[in-house]
Amino acid sequence: MVDVILGLQWGDEGKGKIVDYFAKNYDLIARFQGGPNAGHTLYVNDKKIVLHQIPSGIFHEQKINLIGNGVVLDPVTLKKECEAVASFGVDYQKSLFISERTHLILPTHRALDKASELSKGNDKIGSTLKGIGPAYMDKTGRNGLRVGDLLDKNFTTQYIKLRMKHQRLLDNFNFQEEISQWEEEFFDAIDFLKNLNIVNGEYFINDKIKKGMRVLAEGAQGSMLDVDFGTFPFVTSSSTISAGVCSGLGVAPQKIKDVIGITKAYCTRVGSGPFPTELTDATGDFLRNAGNEFGSTTGRPRRCGWIDLVALNFACMINGVTQIVMTKADILDSLEELMVCKNYLINGKESNVVPFQMNRMKIEAAYESFKGWNTDISKISSFEEMPQAMKTYINYINQYLGVPVKYISNGPGREQIVSIK
Ligand code: GDP
Ligand code: IMO
Ligand code: MG
Repeated sequence: MVDVILGLQWGDEGKGKIVDYFAKNYDLIARFQGGPNAGHTLYVNDKKIVLHQIPSGIFHEQKINLIGNGVVLDPVTLKKECEAVASFGVDYQKSLFISERTHLILPTHRALDKASELSKGNDKIGSTLKGIGPAYMDKTGRNGLRVGDLLDKNFTTQYIKLRMKHQRLLDNFNFQEEISQWEEEFFDAIDFLKNLNIVNGEYFINDKIKKGMRVLAEGAQGSMLDVDFGTFPFVTSSSTISAGVCSGLGVAPQKIKDVIGITKAYCTRVGSGPFPTELTDATGDFLRNAGNEFGSTTGRPRRCGWIDLVALNFACMINGVTQIVMTKADILDSLEELMVCKNYLINGKESNVVPFQMNRMKIEAAYESFKGWNTDISKISSFEEMPQAMKTYINYINQYLGVPVKYISNGPGREQIVSIK
């Protein structure tokens, strides 16, 4: 049996915290897509750690953590992450497993990512520059190298061949010095990676499922960054939605049970692209400061706005979301009035549909206004004690989406979460 936790917005919904919270109920936690573009923040013993590629179950002893074939893996980042979790006492040699089919991010992929952004001028995606797009291009273009290839004695020859191919695309850029520096780190890191638990991920996970173990699949990015259904071309390069679990881990759709969707009580986006509920005023600044909305991976300020139910409804539909976790509700604590986007206004017409090419049309948001709760909710531990204004807000969202909000996260801490019966 497999449950999924994924983001319903444009990323950074708090997936890391929620996966860490739910991990106790599972035996195996697996990442199925994305790579070091992700930044999942956890607080362990009140100390902050940001995970990029290692699943957020790693701090639970006895749990198995798998990096699935759908991920693109940067060995340099992985080595640093392993060292970081080890400093918390984690024995990653025992609990971390990596699929041999996982594609590798090479130093030239990072350079190609940079080159792609530079050549786009004003149309930049705002990529994290981690080499994600180029690594997935080499996967679908059938050129990429995989973790299992590291164990092949011809790995270096294959690597040089691909590097030469990339080099031709980088002729007009002066990245040579950077690439050489990255390469040094890369070769050091692949020696480290070779000695980790490299497994046949699809048999590994299916054997565990057969034995009755419970699997939690952890998404990265968010549904609105999905390569097919997101705000293309301002998206990432992987399938961030629940369908990605099947291809990214090798599990059949019948094995998936709950799809737990995470949304903030408001909305953020980092990088370029459409964002109908974006607030560029003082309220937007308030959300950014109160919510500490700066990228976990790149440190960039996040764009902030009101919750967008049109986009959330779309995300619930394509993912088959069965329950919702709402995070960062505490950030709204001091606001007098809250807005909820219930429709888009496209050329003056109201619509509840996420359109094709959102970026080519002017979309305004039509809002429903709610009274703020004006209460510090960060120490409340039962839903009954939550202010009535919040209950009204949650009730409206439940009704609109037809999917229940089952948990409210009211702070970054590990135990700051309230369940709704
Ligand atoms: P992820 O990429 O989805 O895992 O999210 P990030 O870690 O990039 O960003 C979420 C941020 O919000 C992190 O700094 C978390 O510590 C923090 N966070 C998560 N849930 C809550 C919450 O309920 N309240 C507050 N105040 N912060 C939260
Ligand atoms: P987590 O898992 C928020 C955004 C980038 C950019 C676009 C493409 O922490 O939620 P990429 O480097 O993937 O080619 O960039 O996607 N992006 C994210 N935004 N959270 C993330 O991950 C993101 N990963 C990528 O900012 O707009
Ligand atoms: Mg993040």
